[in-house]
Formats: sequence, structure tokens, C-alpha cells
Amino acid sequence: MSGVILVLNGPNLNLLGQREPDIYGRTSLDDIRALSAARAKLHGLEADFRQSNEEGELVSWIQAARGSAQGIVINAAAYTHTSVAILDALLACGLPVIEVHLSNIYKREEFRHHSFVSRAAAGVICGFGAQGYELALDAMAHILKQAKSS
Ligand code: DQA
Repeated sequence: MSGVILVLNGPNLNLLGQREPDIYGRTSLDDIRALSAARAKLHGLEADFRQSNEEGELVSWIQAARGSAQGIVINAAAYTHTSVAILDALLACGLPVIEVHLSNIYKREEFRHHSFVSRAAAGVICGFGAQGYELALDAMAHILKQAKSS
């Protein structure tokens, strides 16, 4: 298989490793970037791995992915729970989307139980820490393989 998977990370994920390690673990975002690159490569894919603290930048990247990527893996972080703009961009891009969270959002505060992103996602992976990105890339490879053979 060939193609690019846009792996998007929202606000504060640049602080991974230092930020609330009991919840998010000690793995840095750079470590997750490396894990994602290796996992994508295993499937013959390329991970275009990005992080932004700004909602509008994430929206612009999702819009641009329409012409350049085969799928989107997204951890929208806090915007998961607030952003209709990110949901609308994901719905508009027409690409398969997989939602990831490091923590199990359903075990946490109630305001984290609702996700706007989920309405655009083929599936959600949460609670497995950094491994969730690898699981999401495996699932994305499977979705793309199925789409190719149908
Ligand atoms: C998160 C969960 C969100 O609720 C939180 O705002 C984050 C990270 C996660 O990966 O567990 O910033 O998306």
C-alpha cells in the first residue's frame, strides 16, 4: 500500500512527557512521532505527523488533507469536547478518520465524555497511551485495504 496518513495532535500535546504524567504517561510527542512513522511504514504508509495549539490551524490542515492524504488519525485533545469547526472540517474532507486519546476519556470528568470528533470517526481508540496511535494506524491500514479491494 502507499499513501499519506495525516496524524493530527491538538493543544497541549506538545507538553507530553511533562504534562500530568500520571494521566498521559512519560512518552514525549517526539517519541509518538517516531512510533507513528515506524508503524505507518510497516503498512507501506507515511505518517504526516503534526501538532498545533490553534483550532484554526488544525481546521486548515484538515481541509488541505483532502487533496494530499488518504486518511486522518486525530487526537484533537481539548478541542475534541468543544470544536464544531473541527467536526465540520472532518466531515467535509471525506477521508476516513480515526479518533485517538491517550487516556480513557470515559473514566474521567464528565465533560470529557462527549466528543464532537466521534461523529466523523470510523472508530475511537482511547486509554492505551501512546500505543493508541499504533492501533489507529493499524486500523487505518485495514480500512484503506478494504476500500481498495471493494
Ligand atoms: C486527550 C484527552 C482530552 O480530554 C484532553 O483534553 C487532552 C488529551 C487524551 O489524549 O487523552 O488534552 O485527548
